[in-house]
Amino acid sequence: MPELLVPRLSVAPSAREAARGTDWDEHPTYAGLAGLTDAELPGWVESLVTDSRPHASRPPGATPATNLWWVDGDTYLGRVQVRHHLTHDLREAGGHVGYHVVAAHRRRGHATAMLAATLPVAAQLGLDCVLVTCDADNAGSRRTIEANGGLFHDQRGVKLRYWVPTA
Ligand SMILES: CC(C)(COP(=O)(O)OP(=O)(O)OC[C@H]1O[C@@H](n2cnc3c(N)ncnc32)[C@H](O)[C@@H]1OP(=O)(O)O)[C@@H](O)C(=O)NCCC(=O)NCCS
Repeated sequence: MPELLVPRLSVAPSAREAARGTDWDEHPTYAGLAGLTDAELPGWVESLVTDSRPHASRPPGATPATNLWWVDGDTYLGRVQVRHHLTHDLREAGGHVGYHVVAAHRRRGHATAMLAATLPVAAQLGLDCVLVTCDADNAGSRRTIEANGGLFHDQRGVKLRYWVPTA
């Protein structure tokens, strides 16, 4: 039974294996995972965990974010990121929540279940509603958002913007 967990070292080799497959995550934090050595994995996992701390080191303009993994045992299935605040760019396009499901595990309800499990986490961060966006042609993400109660707000360029109540 998959569950939403704080990133942990025991799952990291499975995530790296997935990163070496097709249609891997383009998020900058995950993009280089395929090339990390065993010795580099602990630091990478730690950086994901500490990203939620207000004073952690991060690129200029980036907001603190809670990173969580959707895992089954030690098998990495996907990930979600909840950004604690909306910057201008996040408000325009990125939203509070971003997610990715490993290509081999798609179309089995994981994104829908993962976003559902994420909403209480966002509520605990004090977010009553989260902005979740997707490209207009991303049918899977759109359905994931709508299945979680997303209320269509508007379209900006190619991005559809939804507000999703967290409780
Ligand atoms: C979008 C994504 C997260 C969906 O993950 P998933 O685990 O396959 O999603 P689910 O299985 O929960 O599917 C949700 C719904 O979308 C539908 N769906 C999923 N992929 C689809 C696709 N490629 N085309 C059409 N419908 C699709 C499912 O059938 C399901 O519909 P239902 O609720 O009517 O049954 C995954 O494809 C992905 O990681 N893509 C790359 C990264 C990305 O786009 N992230 C989101 C950025 S906004």
